[in-house]
Amino acid sequence: MQNDTFLVTGALGCLGAWVLKHLVDRGVRVIATDLGGEPVRPRLVMTEDAIAKVTWHVLDVTDTKAVAKLVADEGVTRIVHLAGLQIPFCRANPALGSAVNVTGTINIFEAARAAGVQGLAYASSLAALGPATDYDTWPLPDDAIPAPRTLYGAYKVANEQTAGVYAADWGVGSVGLRPCVVYGVGRDQGVTADFAKAILASVAGRPFHIRTCGLIPMQHASDVARMFIGCAEAGVSDARVCNLRNDVIRTEDFIAALKQVIPSADVTYDEGSEFPFPADLSDKGLQDVLGSVPYTPLSEALAQDAAMYRELVERDAIDLGQLDV
Ligand SMILES: NC(=O)c1ccc[n+]([C@@H]2O[C@H](COP(=O)([O-])OP(=O)(O)OC[C@H]3O[C@@H](n4cnc5c(N)ncnc54)[C@H](O)[C@@H]3O)[C@@H](O)[C@H]2O)c1
Repeated sequence: MQNDTFLVTGALGCLGAWVLKHLVDRGVRVIATDLGGEPVRPRLVMTEDAIAKVTWHVLDVTDTKAVAKLVADEGVTRIVHLAGLQIPFCRANPALGSAVNVTGTINIFEAARAAGVQGLAYASSLAALGPATDYDTWPLPDDAIPAPRTLYGAYKVANEQTAGVYAADWGVGSVGLRPCVVYGVGRDQGVTADFAKAILASVAGRPFHIRTCGLIPMQHASDVARMFIGCAEAGVSDARVCNLRNDVIRTEDFIAALKQVIPSADVTYDEGSEFPFPADLSDKGLQDVLGSVPYTPLSEALAQDAAMYRELVERDAIDLGQLDV
């Protein structure tokens, strides 16, 4: 939608970088916000010319007034809200985790309400759900009862329920997406980033150990970015919460697919650390919102990632230190 102005929060993150890339590719006006700093991840997936087309603002989503002012001043019509602290950060600092993940999201909803924003997609997470043993209906529907075991997950459930109240009381429509294991260029933090790091390590000629095993629900970062954009554009007037699906694959099969693309890949995995969340999720709700869900088949996505990583490694444009953690 060419007349739209998109606000992207958490724009320096992995998904933020891919959302910016797709919006700029489409010629849409984009306001990118984050805490500040160099666009390290956007530079992995965008050219400097593309990055220069984005309007950048430092915005701490915990700052209620600043969020409202920016949304109003910039004439924002659609929001992709990705800013958040992940599981280890919320565990280490619960009050900050709640300020960013809960209050930050409330600030976005308030600003959207005040400015009459037309579309809002925000990041929930698979971590809103409990372990697979909590459930008995497969594929797991969107309305399975949340049962988070982490503060991060509890905060994401608070976001989903906040969205319900904003739709019921003030007519603010939204779509909350529950990404699972996102892989692709730019994914570099947390245990579930191991799948992306395994690709980078294989390109760089290094062995790599994935710290989990079992059935994994995986989505390519570029596809997830397009899901967020599509959901912000979808004109939803109620509060939807959508599981993501795409590839549901065992860790050893992911490694085998990687070896098809990079035969020299030397990747092992931890056979004792079962992935702690459900993997067999229904994305019917997302199909209802989008019509067709963006999906790059794993073999194609791995080939794309390998080519991008190879080019970045050759230019010395990516930090290989991430492989040591
Ligand atoms: N990547 C995944 O596999 C995955 C899975 C489930 C859910 N999610 C959710 O999707 C969203 C984006 O994920 P990602 O992988 O891009 O995360 P990321 O950690 O790479 O990026 C998050 C961004 O939020 C920013 N941020 C943190 N505190 C902020 C604040 N106070 N104000 C403004 N910005 C702040 C960070 O600087 C960072 O750039 C997050 O909310 C995350 O919880 C991601």
